[in-house]
Amino acid sequence: MRSHYCGQVTEAHLDTDVELSGWVHRRRDHGGVIFIDLRDRDGLVQVVFDPDRPESFATAESVRGEYVLRVQGRVRRRPEGTENPGLNSGQVEVLGHAIEVLNTAKTPPFQLDDVDVGEDVRLRHRYVDLRRPEMLERLRTRARITSELRRFLDGEGFLDIETPMLTRATPEGARDYLVPSRVHQGAFYALPQSPQLFKQLLMMSGMDRYYQITRCFRDEDLRADRQPEFTQLDIETSFMDENGIMELMESMIAGLFRNVLGEELPQPFPRMRYAEAVHRFGIDRPDLRIPLELVEVADLVTDVEFKVFSGPANDAKGRVAALRVPGGGELTRKEIDTYTEFVGRYGAKGLAYIKVNDPAQGREGLQSPILKFLPDEAVTGILERTGAGAGDLVFFGADRASIVNEALGALRVRLGHDLGLVEAGWRPVWVVDFPMFEYDEQDQRLYSLHHPFTSPSVDSVDELRAVDAEQLLSRAYDMVLNGTEIGGGSIRIHRPDMQRAVFGLLGIDEDEAREKFGFLLDALEYGAPPHGGIAFGLDRLVMLMTGAHSIRDVMAFPKTQTASCLLTEAPAPVGEAQLRELGIRLRKTVSG
Ligand code: AMO
Ligand code: AMP
Repeated sequence: MRSHYCGQVTEAHLDTDVELSGWVHRRRDHGGVIFIDLRDRDGLVQVVFDPDRPESFATAESVRGEYVLRVQGRVRRRPEGTENPGLNSGQVEVLGHAIEVLNTAKTPPFQLDDVDVGEDVRLRHRYVDLRRPEMLERLRTRARITSELRRFLDGEGFLDIETPMLTRATPEGARDYLVPSRVHQGAFYALPQSPQLFKQLLMMSGMDRYYQITRCFRDEDLRADRQPEFTQLDIETSFMDENGIMELMESMIAGLFRNVLGEELPQPFPRMRYAEAVHRFGIDRPDLRIPLELVEVADLVTDVEFKVFSGPANDAKGRVAALRVPGGGELTRKEIDTYTEFVGRYGAKGLAYIKVNDPAQGREGLQSPILKFLPDEAVTGILERTGAGAGDLVFFGADRASIVNEALGALRVRLGHDLGLVEAGWRPVWVVDFPMFEYDEQDQRLYSLHHPFTSPSVDSVDELRAVDAEQLLSRAYDMVLNGTEIGGGSIRIHRPDMQRAVFGLLGIDEDEAREKFGFLLDALEYGAPPHGGIAFGLDRLVMLMTGAHSIRDVMAFPKTQTASCLLTEAPAPVGEAQLRELGIRLRKTVSG
């Protein structure tokens, strides 16, 4: 039904006949002539109908926005002064000879070029929303990205292998989505949080190099960069160590940016130890574009009277850190209050600060609610160590280290954006040397920082037992880009005794290990090669590469913050008969 896409009609087609199909973007009546901007996937072209052809003219007069048309006509140059340099087809127009209405349309729920449409309306009518050029463009880029990634991995000998969706729980730290079994009443499948165990089994099967672009399901609190179902580029290799894997993945990602965006990433990607990242940036996914850093000042305030500082300074689990804000002297009382409230969300009980007006004047040149609590040596030490000069401001966090890190880490990013300090460009970094475990005070047990199949950085169970579990490092690595964790992986445990020992440290006893992971423990006994891998969050990667603010904007049919699909109204109640068949009785009936 077409000879060209609308957006492709240019001066190259002058005086030729074209046939186009698309949607009415806009229709204008201009003193006896009708202009229709016809739109398809590739853009717009202006079609003109004049009264010389009364039949087509009458039809053209009757069409409305978003009607679906088929048009035949001849390409001609636009009259001088009416060209539109903003359009690919902007030098030409099509003089319509014939027009056929393929379908009518109700008035759309919003104008495609209206920028202020609420997300709910957009999601409810996603098929209209996706017609917007920026949405189309993002999905087109997404397709380019997956195609490039496949090309790279195919070229490197990776096999694309599918793994089950109806499976058993894989522990990635989120809640599972469960699917009831009809045949085995009372039993449930879990949708995979990742293909982790299957890809390891594929290595044990001798596949050597595997990849898959696959959906993962996690029932967790949603944010701008988290969806309940999302897509991973999942990768696993045998007989390769972490350096080999990181180098290969780096060249894949650098090549992707080169081929899709024409942009160069700094190579090799720098590597940063987890401890350093947390120390300097308060977080294990530092945005290196922001030139602000946390500075340790605990040792300067151990003896001060101000308990807010001296308390955490003398506590092994405490931290007192400072954050110098260049030019922060300009911040108003109200702005500082806003930041105080902001860090409060991360558990910080306050946000002490010192404004440096004129350091030459000593204490007189400073302005701060805590100055009276600090002796001269402490103040001088703080200014020296943070490098704070005239016009700067220094913020402080003093609390349990985890609170200070989260609060000041988030404040650093917020200030970077608010004060326009975010540098342009791409700043990838590998974060390495993660702790193997994290102790949870509430549950009084260890949890894996990554997942329980990640190899510790010790070679034997004896060595494992000899070290304090909380001091143990793992062989995990995360790829971080501009403050977003785009991928994470590790070298895996491939010896059954080590896997059992790690389960043991996690408080998973023999029986539970057998019940949940018996198949894995068995497979490890039948010749498991050393192996490791990584998974990239494809949606996050596309979000960064397209400059979108939310991963919802790079998914065709995303879910809302409350994990519902406004288009299909999923999840939805099911009928009594269906439940009975599954052997399920609801504890209480759900509403809508
Ligand atoms: P991990 O849990 O780190 O590792 O997940 C890998 C990557 O997936 C992305 N991601 C998400 N994206 C959108 N919405 C979510 N809810 C979400 N959760 C995670 C992130 C993350 O870096 N099996 C391991 C990988 C491995 O060890 O090989 C795993 O799933 O970008
Ligand atoms: P207060 O003595 O509670 O009035 O606090 C004096 C100053 O210290 C105020 O500016 C508070 O915002 C700040 N402050 C209080 N608790 C903390 C904390 N845990 N970390 C950093 N600053 C704090």
